[in-house]
Amino acid sequence: MEIITNVTEYEKLAKEKLPKMVYDYYASGAEDQWTLKENREAFSRILFRPRILIDVSHIDMTTNVLGFNISMPIMIAPSAMQKMAHPEGELATARAAASAGTIMTLSSWSTSSVEEVNSVGPGIRFFQLYVYKDRNIVRQLVKRAEMAGFKAIVLTVDTPRLGRREADIKNRFTLPPHLVLKNFEALDLGTMDKTNDSGLASYVAGQVDRTLSWKDVKWLQTITSLPILVKGVVTAEDTRLAIEHGAAGIIVSNHGARQLDYVPATISCLEEVAREAKGRLPVFLDGGVRRGTDVFKALALGASGVFIGRPVLFSLAVDGEAGVRKVLQMLRDELELTMALSGCTSLREITRAHVITDGDRIGRSRL
Ligand code: FNR
Repeated sequence: MEIITNVTEYEKLAKEKLPKMVYDYYASGAEDQWTLKENREAFSRILFRPRILIDVSHIDMTTNVLGFNISMPIMIAPSAMQKMAHPEGELATARAAASAGTIMTLSSWSTSSVEEVNSVGPGIRFFQLYVYKDRNIVRQLVKRAEMAGFKAIVLTVDTPRLGRREADIKNRFTLPPHLVLKNFEALDLGTMDKTNDSGLASYVAGQVDRTLSWKDVKWLQTITSLPILVKGVVTAEDTRLAIEHGAAGIIVSNHGARQLDYVPATISCLEEVAREAKGRLPVFLDGGVRRGTDVFKALALGASGVFIGRPVLFSLAVDGEAGVRKVLQMLRDELELTMALSGCTSLREITRAHVITDGDRIGRSRL
């Protein structure tokens, strides 16, 4: 096999290996997929202002997220149904994250339960929450995640309804019959009906609470003492509200371009959010991160760290735990090299002055 030299190469290999229904579900964005493309392209418009003649013989990429020390500012985003990619699914991802010394976020809709993921051994893990109409289900699930050692709740706030992913509609996407949404198995909500549409869209319409609002962020704090990260903020206004409602952190995310199409790329929203946050809470980013240079750009524009989604699914499909390990290692190596070539020896040294954005260029040409 040819040597894999970057994260993106896994997508093509996964496409060859996976059933079309599964690949399309993993790869797709919503509607015209404008935001999907833009999540990548916006990174490519940000350029560097490297500094030279700085001793870069030692580079420290360690950081602290909500009080937990991790090896690098690259973490794993929640993505659903990983056993469609590989028989070990979320368990392989959890092992890879732990061996890389970083955080894995487990999706509510995982095909391994919170208890099974906990059983793989030590590791810092967050639990992503979808709020169901039946709040007893939410209470039970959050308690189970706490008991299983998860360290934070990642509350996804951009999905009152499922975005329109047309490939899933054409494929009549549904969870393959040998798999279940493990966290919901005992509640009889672990399976998805085959419908004339996307089976997941129908499941969401049936179970997920469309009334979810800011007061529920407060409510969540009455049922758990875990810190709550709000995932899906893209504006300063909502940053202010997240702070007012007691969020422990924000994840700037457009759900990998799978919800509202024609929202800007997350990297284009980051600075607005980080400026509003003013360091009062950490701001993270996901969406389109495929290179160490992307991670550096996000940190320069105010992120405390990033999460990756699809690269985990595609590498898992190709090579299981080893594939996910390799993705994390490649991004780590690329970030280290980017820091060295930009003259930064620690994450603290990465500043706004190390990058030029579209906005800077417009500002400059007016001078
Ligand atoms: C997701 N994402 C997601 N988010 C979430 O909060 N709960 C979930 O269950 C899922 N499931 C899911 C499945 C698949 C197949 C994808 C591709 C994405 C969104 C995910 O957490 C993250 O926001 C994006 O994947 C980040 O973008 P990239 O890295 O995939 O470009």
